[in-house]
Amino acid sequence: MQKKTGLVIEVQGLCKKVDDATGSLTILDGINLAIEAGSRVALVGASGSGKSTLLGLLAGLDHASAGSVRLLGHDLAQLDEDARATLRRGAVGFVFQSFQLMPHLTALENVMLPLELQGEITAPEAARRARTLLEQVGLGPRTAHYPKLLSGGEQQRVALARAFVTRPAVLFADEPTGSLDAATGHAVIELMFEMNRASGATLVLVTHDAELARRCDRTLTIEAGRLVV
Ligand SMILES: Nc1ncnc2c1ncn2[C@@H]1O[C@H](COP(=O)(O)OP(=O)(O)OP(=O)(O)O)[C@@H](O)[C@H]1O
Ligand SMILES: [Mg+2]
Repeated sequence: MQKKTGLVIEVQGLCKKVDDATGSLTILDGINLAIEAGSRVALVGASGSGKSTLLGLLAGLDHASAGSVRLLGHDLAQLDEDARATLRRGAVGFVFQSFQLMPHLTALENVMLPLELQGEITAPEAARRARTLLEQVGLGPRTAHYPKLLSGGEQQRVALARAFVTRPAVLFADEPTGSLDAATGHAVIELMFEMNRASGATLVLVTHDAELARRCDRTLTIEAGRLVV
């Protein structure tokens, strides 16, 4: 496979402020960063430092208060909600800290959903691909289970399979091994790095897992809403 080059993410002066009961709260304060195509980046920092907020902004799931995010060459502020959704559907995988599986869909149906939204392949092909991924994360025997019948670690693995199924150019994952035992966590790390090797997918991973951070090319550290260099 030809090596992809260039920047997939460019961030300048990114700020996120919210109004809460006590007044205005600054969550992110002047973030600048650039991420090369095909690279593996770990985002680390204490609880409450702004990691999940930053990930959501990079993926176009949230609006910045100031500054800019370019994702795959698109200035996210210049795209409307529909255009951002189309960009995400085609090129972005996202694993939320809270998994966010659809409760009324089985594990298999949850993983098929992004493919069905893309509408580019037939349902049997989508099911085949989804089943293969669920097997890779060790959930072959659980494909017909609904999320509430799955353990936290199993739900996390369904969420990972759902993020991988469209073979995204950029995978954002928020503590992807957070609820997993060492062996399952290791298998999930292997799967992400295999995706990076096979298709040149860029990985941006929030993590407290030392093994995962060590295997990345770079570690970005965030402290109270600012990157530390
Ligand atoms: N919509 C919001 N309104 C008010 N405060 C918010 C909002 N979103 C995030 N925060 C606050 O911003 C801070 C950063 O939150 P964020 O979820 O980004 O932290 P984090 O680094 O991901 O933490 P953790 O490691 O615990 O997941 C926290 O103090 C949180 O309470
Ligand atoms: Mg978080």
